[in-house]
Amino acid sequence: MVSTLSNEIRELRTRYPEPRSAVMPALQLAQERRGGWLPEATLREVADALELTPAYCLSIASFYDMFHLEPIGETVIEVCTNVSCALNGAQQVVEAFEAELGLSAGETSPAYTLRAVECLGGCGWATVVAVNNRHRLRVRAEDVPALVAELEGREPPVDDASEEEQPDDGDA
Ligand code: FES
Repeated sequence: MVSTLSNEIRELRTRYPEPRSAVMPALQLAQERRGGWLPEATLREVADALELTPAYCLSIASFYDMFHLEPIGETVIEVCTNVSCALNGAQQVVEAFEAELGLSAGETSPAYTLRAVECLGGCGWATVVAVNNRHRLRVRAEDVPALVAELEGREPPVDDASEEEQPDDGDA
C-alpha cells in the first residue's frame, strides 16, 4: 500500500522541474511526518517516491544540519559555534547548556537534543541559539540557566550577583 507520505512527496515532485530539485522539501516533509528525524526506511520511502537512490537522499540528509538521522529530544537546542559566535563566547554557551542539561553537545535525552552547529545566519547577533528552530539572539553563557528554566516552565534561578549587598555609601 502506498503511504500518505509517498503520495504527498509525489505531489510535491510535480512542482519541480526534476526529482532532485524536490529532495530538500521532500526530506523536510518526511522529517515532520516521522517524528522529527529520518529513519532509514523513511529515506527509502522518499527515494522511491522521487525515483532517486536512497544513497542520494542520505547524502543530502547527512550534509545539512536541519536533517536528523537519529531520534531527537522533545526540544532541540542548537548553538552556533561558527566564527562570529565563536568570537562572542559560543563555546561557553555550549558548556553552560551541557552543565544545565546534563548532556554533551551531540547527545540526546528524551527531553533535549543539544547540538553545536554551523552558522545559523544571524552573525550580527552572536551568539545565536536555535530552540526548536526559533532563534534566540545575543545569548551569553549566564543567560542559559534562565533560558532552560523558561523552557521547563520554571522560575528563573536567582542570580547570586544581584543578591549581593550593595556597598555602604556612608550616608546611614
Ligand atoms: S556565525 Fe553564528 S550565526 Fe553566523
